[in-house]
Amino acid sequence: MTDRLVIRRPDDWHAHFRDGAMLDAVAPHTARQFARAIVMPNLVPPVTTVAAAAAYRDRIRKAAGPGFEPLMTVYLTDGLDPDEVERGHAQGVWVAAKLYPAHATTNSAHGVTDVARIARVLERMQKIGMNLLVHGEVTDKHVDIFDREKVFIDKVLDPTIRNFPGLKIVFEHITTREAVERVKAAPANLAATITPHHLHIDRNAIFEGGVRPHLYCLPIAKRAHHREALRKAACSGDARFFLGTDTAPHAVEAKEAACGCAGIFCAPAALEAYVQVFDEEKALDRFEAFASLNGPAFYGLPVNEARVALSRAPNALSETTLAAGTRVVNFLGGRTLPWRYDGAA
Ligand code: NCD
Ligand code: ZN
Repeated sequence: MTDRLVIRRPDDWHAHFRDGAMLDAVAPHTARQFARAIVMPNLVPPVTTVAAAAAYRDRIRKAAGPGFEPLMTVYLTDGLDPDEVERGHAQGVWVAAKLYPAHATTNSAHGVTDVARIARVLERMQKIGMNLLVHGEVTDKHVDIFDREKVFIDKVLDPTIRNFPGLKIVFEHITTREAVERVKAAPANLAATITPHHLHIDRNAIFEGGVRPHLYCLPIAKRAHHREALRKAACSGDARFFLGTDTAPHAVEAKEAACGCAGIFCAPAALEAYVQVFDEEKALDRFEAFASLNGPAFYGLPVNEARVALSRAPNALSETTLAAGTRVVNFLGGRTLPWRYDGAA
C-alpha cells in the first residue's frame, strides 16, 4: 500500500479569489498547495480590460505571497473588442478567456447572451492560440437544472467546435457522463477540468437530512452514475482531464440564506480531497498526471520543477475559515480526511 506520494507541485486550473479582505483570506490557501492558478474573472464589475486584469493580478500576488503565480483570464461580454483580447494575451496579462452564459451562475449578469455575438473574438482567439474556458450550462429557465450541462453540449459547445475547429476549449467543472463522453470523443483541442466536490458528492448529498446549502454549487452535482463517470475519467490518466477546484468562497451568511449563493469553498484541503478519490479508485499512480502534468500540457506551459508530498495520515479539517470579518465553510470541514498534504518534498 502506498502511504506517501511525491508529485510535481500541482496547479489549480480553475479558482475564484474574489477581492479585498476575502481575497487576502482565501488566496494563501490556494498558494499553499498550488504553484499557479487560473483566476476566474467574475468580480463585480467583471474583469474585461487589460488594465483591470493587471491590477487584479498585483492584488492577488500580494495576498498569496511569493512562490505563487496567478494566471489571469478575461471575462467575455457581448461587446468585447477582439483587439483588447489580443492585446492582453500578447502582453502576457491573461492566458485565456472565460465564457459565462449570461445569468448562468454567480456574478454572470454581464455574460454572453449568444455565442454568435462573440464570433469575432473567438475567431481571433483561434488565430492567436488563446484558450477559451467555458461555463458549460444553458440558462434557459425551461431547461431542468440537472440537464443544463447536457443541453449546453448540443446547443452551444458542438456548434462552437464546428465553427472554430482550431480553437482550444476547456469545458470547466464538468459534472455529467455526457460531458466525459463528449471530451473523450473530441480531438485533443477539447479538455475538461473536474472539481474535488463533484468527485465526492452526488445530488443526494445536497438533500441529506435537510437542505445543505454548502454543497450547492453550479453546475449542480448530478446523479451517482455521473459522479462515477467523473471519477473514472479523472483517474484514467487521459491527458484531457485535469485538476480545477472551482474553489468559490462565499460568506456563511450568503450561503445560509433564503436565496443562497452557488459556490463551494474547497481550497483548504483540495489536494487531500482529490488524492482520497485516486486512492479509493486504486489510481494513485495517475494522480500526478491529473494534478500536475495534464493542465500545463494543455495550456502549453512548463510543468513545475518543485515536488510536494502527501501522506496517508488522519487529517482533521476545521469546519470553517475566518475571512473578511466572517466565516466561510470548508468543503469536507469537520471531517477527518484520510490523507494529509505535507508541503515541499
Ligand atoms: C462560482 C462563484 O461563486 O463564483 N460558483 C459556483 O457555484 N461554481 C461561479 C462558477 O464557477 O460557476
Ligand atoms: Zn467557477
